[in-house]
Amino acid sequence: MKYKRIFITHYGGPDELRIVEEECPEPKKGEVRVRVLAAGVSLPDVMMREGIHPETPRLPFTPGWDLVGAVDRLGDDVSGIQTGQIVAALPIFGAYTEYVCLPQSNLVHVPPGLNAAEAVSLILNYVTAYQMLHRTAKVKKGQKVLIHGAAGGVGTALLQLGRLAGLDMYGTCKSKDAGAVSDMGCIPIDYEHQDFVKEIQRLTGDGVDAVFESIGGSHIWLSRKTLRRGGKVVAFGLTGSLQGGRSTLGRQGSRQRYRAISNFGLYIALSWILPGRKRVVPYSIQWLMRLKPEFFRQDLMALFDLLKQQKIKPLIAQRFPLADARKAHELLGKGGVMGKIVLMCNGASIE
Ligand SMILES: NC(=O)c1ccc[n+]([C@@H]2O[C@H](COP(=O)([O-])OP(=O)(O)OC[C@H]3O[C@@H](n4cnc5c(N)ncnc54)[C@H](OP(=O)(O)O)[C@@H]3O)[C@@H](O)[C@H]2O)c1
Repeated sequence: MKYKRIFITHYGGPDELRIVEEECPEPKKGEVRVRVLAAGVSLPDVMMREGIHPETPRLPFTPGWDLVGAVDRLGDDVSGIQTGQIVAALPIFGAYTEYVCLPQSNLVHVPPGLNAAEAVSLILNYVTAYQMLHRTAKVKKGQKVLIHGAAGGVGTALLQLGRLAGLDMYGTCKSKDAGAVSDMGCIPIDYEHQDFVKEIQRLTGDGVDAVFESIGGSHIWLSRKTLRRGGKVVAFGLTGSLQGGRSTLGRQGSRQRYRAISNFGLYIALSWILPGRKRVVPYSIQWLMRLKPEFFRQDLMALFDLLKQQKIKPLIAQRFPLADARKAHELLGKGGVMGKIVLMCNGASIE
C-alpha cells in the first residue's frame, strides 16, 4: 500500500516542504501504525524547517509535532488497544503524514465524540499552556499574569485555561486582535505601538505574578521588569528568532540553534543572582514529557475532558489538506493567525 508524507531535504523556506509517495511502513515490535486524521502546524515546525529549533532532526525528515489518528495496524507484543481506536501523540517530528508507526507507549486514548482538529489543537498548545500554568508557575485564583503572543496558538490556550483558573490576564497582541483577546477575558496591550513594561506598571501598580514569555532574547529581561517581588517569568519560546516566518539567526546549524537557548541560561542565572526574587524559569514540553511521561498523559487527558465538557474550545484558524502544508507554513509565517492551523489527512473534512 502506498502513502503520502511531507518531506524536507534542505533547511529553508516553505518551498522545502515537498510531498512524497512511498510504500506504507509496517509496525515493528511494540509499535502501532496510526492512520493520521489531523496534524497540528505550529511555530516549532517552522523553526525545524528553518533548522533553528533545538530539537531539529537530521535531514531528511518529516515535520509535525502533534497528531490525532485512528489505530490502523498492531505490531507484535502490542495489547490493550484495538484497530479503529482514536489516539493522540506528540512525536515532535513526523506528524505531517498519512501513516506513521509509533511506540504504543507514546499514544494517548482520545475519548469518543471529539473533533479531530480540535483534539489535535490540545496536544502541543494546550498541554504547554496547562503545564506552564499549573506545574511551572503554579498559579492561584486572582493572580495577575502577562501573556505574550496572546492571539497565537499557545496564547489563546493560555487565555482559555487562565480564565478557567480565575486569573487577571494581560496579553500582548496586534491591535487588530485586541477585540478577540479582550473577549477572551484579557486586557490587550498592542505590542507594536505600546511599551508593555510601562503599560503593566500603569495597569497593575506593582506588577504581575507571572509572565508567559514566548519571544526570547533580551525580551525575557523586559518581561522580568513587569514582575512583582516573588514573581516568575516562564521562558518557553523563541518567536523573536523568526521574521515573516524565516530565521533571523543567519545561517542554520547547531551553533545558531544553541546560541539562542544559551541566552535563556544567562537570564535564568542572572535572575537568581540579582535581588528582588524575580525568577526566570524555563519550560519545555518535550523535556517534561521525557522526564515525566505520566504528566503529559494525565494533563492531555484532563484537557480532553475539559473539551468534552465544552469548558474549552480551541480556535481553529484554518484547516488545510496535507498536500497544502507549504501554504499552511506560508500563512503562519505571514503572522496575524488567530488560533491553530491544522493539516487534515486521509480525506478528513477540511470544513
Ligand atoms: N517550550 C515549549 O515547550 C513550547 C511549546 C509550544 C510552543 N513553544 C513556543 O511558543 C511560541 C508560540 O508558538 P505558537 O505555535 O503559539 O505560535 P503562533 O501561533 O504563531 O503565535 C505566536 C504569536 O506571537 C505573536 N507575536 C509575534 N511577535 C510578538 C512580539 N514581539 N510581542 C508579542 N507577541 C508577538 C504573534 O502575533 P502576529 O502573528 O500578529 O505577529 C502570534 O500571535 C513559539 O516561540 C514556540 O516555539 C514552546
